[in-house]
Amino acid sequence: MADGPVSKNIVRAEGRVTGQERESILGHTSVTVWFTGLSGSGKSTLAFAVEEALVHLGTAAYVLDGDNIRFGLNRDLGFSPEDRTENIRRIGEVCRLFQDSGMVVLTAFISPYQADRDQVRSLHPEGRFIEVFVDAPLEVCEKRDVKGLYQKARTGEIPEFSGISAPYEAPTNPELRIDTSKPLDECVAEVLARLIP
Ligand code: ADX
Repeated sequence: MADGPVSKNIVRAEGRVTGQERESILGHTSVTVWFTGLSGSGKSTLAFAVEEALVHLGTAAYVLDGDNIRFGLNRDLGFSPEDRTENIRRIGEVCRLFQDSGMVVLTAFISPYQADRDQVRSLHPEGRFIEVFVDAPLEVCEKRDVKGLYQKARTGEIPEFSGISAPYEAPTNPELRIDTSKPLDECVAEVLARLIP
């Protein structure tokens, strides 16, 4: 993927509504909360639980989930390193749009490369990207094997599987690290405490 747009002769258009105006209508600040971790670490479960808690508090929150996005927007992408980078690049741009619109957007993607996550961070204004490391050891994820994918990865039926035959780079400096061996409600409370000081 080239750095700049392929299109020539395009000029940015500026809207007249400020971010502050959007936030005052919605009554909360807008952020991207980026959950990253191995398959089976609990990203989706945690993101959907935090979404529910936020919506019940009157927050405009919405989850973008890896598996779901791969059925639609990113249906043309697989799991090669290049495709994963493109997956995260596209979703990062979507997050920035959601965040700019005033929403709290929560994502659940393995997003195995630190450079890709840093790139998404760089699209956001300072303080509006919160990286959450959903931390569960590989052994635990593999033992859970909720979708039965680790077993297939071990036999080679699924190639390039994160943590087994493809890399996962744990965040070096996340805003939050959640140990998902704890009960779900405790994990949710920890995320909420970071979002609602
Ligand atoms: S990412 O690496 O590009 O961020 P993403 O989060 O979109 O991955 O998709 C991961 C999901 O795809 C996993 O939860 C799992 O259900 C499924 N999956 C299928 N094949 C693989 C694979 N080779 N590696 C990891 N996840 C896979």
